[in-house]
Amino acid sequence: MIFPDYRPRRLRQNEAFRRMIRETKLSVDDLILPLFAISGKGVKNPIESMPGQYQLSVDNLVKTSKEAFELGVPAVILFGIPHNKDPLATRAYAKDGIVQKATRALKEKLPDLAVITDVCLCQYTDHGHCGVIDGHNIDNDASLDLLARTALSHAEAGADMVAPSDMMDGRVAEIRNILDENDFNNLPILSYAAKYCSAYYGPFRDAADSAPKFGDRRTYQMDPANALEAIREVTMDIEEGADIIMVKPALAYLDIICRIREETDLPVAAYNVSGEYSMIKAAAEKGWLDGKKVMMETLTAIKRAGADLILTYFAIEAAKELN
Ligand code: PBG
Ligand code: ZN
Repeated sequence: MIFPDYRPRRLRQNEAFRRMIRETKLSVDDLILPLFAISGKGVKNPIESMPGQYQLSVDNLVKTSKEAFELGVPAVILFGIPHNKDPLATRAYAKDGIVQKATRALKEKLPDLAVITDVCLCQYTDHGHCGVIDGHNIDNDASLDLLARTALSHAEAGADMVAPSDMMDGRVAEIRNILDENDFNNLPILSYAAKYCSAYYGPFRDAADSAPKFGDRRTYQMDPANALEAIREVTMDIEEGADIIMVKPALAYLDIICRIREETDLPVAAYNVSGEYSMIKAAAEKGWLDGKKVMMETLTAIKRAGADLILTYFAIEAAKELN
């Protein structure tokens, strides 16, 4: 394959050829839309650091989900913003919690839309950590039961899939157990298996009001410098019963997505997180780059790296481009 015998430009000379040899094809089927549920009616609070994203009361959340579903997006993932917080994250596993309510409404109005629920405690604890605390220590084992109860209450509300994002050790097994004991053995777990301690979550913490009140998440989320450890985390979650494996964030971690893709034959998801969204939005607002083109290039790159599924705040916008 040496010039002039081989000329790579031959197959790039027109759109028909380019389409024919395109290796990665992004589809609406790959997209999952994250949504923030808040109590009230008619509420649509803009999230300042995430242009185009809102805290939505259940009625508006159903509307946005309907728009996404009609554009072909198969699933949403729900995050809740509770009206009160306490040390034990009581509102995370309350029957009438905000995610439970939103799930029930969605399953009633849009039964064919898959509802995935984020399972974590940080939006619900008064200290903002993803587990319960003992002094300044995040108590792993004491958090497992609350996480499992949260997952079960989402299942009882009608969730189609649960997605633990807390990064406590052993939580996938704990959740699998409680689901199986309660006749939810058919409910899949999407595990945030390789979740890094990332500054790219900044805008999300404004959106979900979930910033830790002391310290940071480095004792449970992964060190961004580590790749082999991601393989250990993924292997562990698969053994514990995860059905889909997630890498998060996506963009600065394309190498991790690629390695995990080779490591497992389970479906791999990647979370195109809030900071990745906001960077593109901010630069586009300034006219520094073409927001739509960068969005499509970014999502295609995440898929090319090996992700089957992409959680992205761009889901609706990208679906419009793909339709
Ligand atoms: C909470 C959670 C976070 C995100 C998803 N679930 C934030 C965090 O871990 O602090 C981040 C999502 C995003 O940035 O878009 N466990
Ligand atoms: Zn959390």
